Amino acid sequence: MLKRPRRNRRTSAIRSLTEETFLRAADLVAPFFIVEGQNRREPIAGFAQIERLSLDLVMQEAKRLHQQGVLGIILFPVIPTEKKDEIASAALDPEGVIPQAVRALKREIPTLCVITDIALDPFTSHGHDGLVRHEEILNDETLEVLQKMALIHAASGADFVAPSDMMDGRVGALRRALDAQGLMHTGILSYTSKYASSLYAPFREALGSSLRFGDKKTYQMNPANSREALLEARLDEEEGADILMVKPALFYLDIIHRMKQASHLPICAFHVSGEYAMVMAAHERGMLNAEKVFYEALLSIKRAGADFIISYATPLILTLLSRTS
Ligand code: PBG
Repeated sequence: MLKRPRRNRRTSAIRSLTEETFLRAADLVAPFFIVEGQNRREPIAGFAQIERLSLDLVMQEAKRLHQQGVLGIILFPVIPTEKKDEIASAALDPEGVIPQAVRALKREIPTLCVITDIALDPFTSHGHDGLVRHEEILNDETLEVLQKMALIHAASGADFVAPSDMMDGRVGALRRALDAQGLMHTGILSYTSKYASSLYAPFREALGSSLRFGDKKTYQMNPANSREALLEARLDEEEGADILMVKPALFYLDIIHRMKQASHLPICAFHVSGEYAMVMAAHERGMLNAEKVFYEALLSIKRAGADFIISYATPLILTLLSRTS
């Protein structure tokens, strides 16, 4: 035999020298669920090792992750039921948990990139991402609320606002609103191709944002489609997005790959709550090793073309990453 590919796999040194893809702490963004109050830590059903934390505890954990090389975090608010309403009023409170958290985090850890999610579902009593009339999710009316929400986050110091609502025209609407207020340095990380996936269940449990009626299929994308993701990517680019996102990640590696080829913008992938929870459930039953499976999963997402990844597994695999680097 003249050709023996196994020669390049013989020793650890050779395997490292011939490695094509790398996973570093700097490729990962850690999500946080923030609750009001002090020293609060609440477990979330079905979401192993992920907790709702008050700002003081988020601060501690964010500092710890940043010291270990993590460069970004993304924040999600947990809003008490009594503060939710039909029109997401709490989303526009400048003293809400997110604006407060952004101000404190940027003050105490200025080198950490802070991203906020822009959508109405944490704040609406019905759990939808937009305003609703007769069970229809209103597009253009929702954009006005999203603009105001993004301005509050940006004025608080968010590095990126990340619209996850999937309303048409949201990226352009946010860019115009930010620029009109002189906030041209605030970036837009667009949830470009966000699919109507069944993998968001633990996230909705964390936020208490389960839907009161219907589903999100009239705004989130059909999992059957890939060309449509490229249309969304083109529109987001034209409207001024700085970074494009594919979500979920592992079931949608083909989308990550195609979007990377079709666009010149950086590509982010969101390894979502259900992707995390499935592995943790199997780990707890002794069926596999979560740390190793997450390493492989995140490496595969990078191999497909993601420049960085939002993942709940970030804290879990940092030790492994420091051992391999
Ligand atoms: C809100 C939002 C969702 C996620 C991120 N932002 C849920 C949804 O659209 O229902 C999901 C994240 C995850 O599952 O980890 N628009």
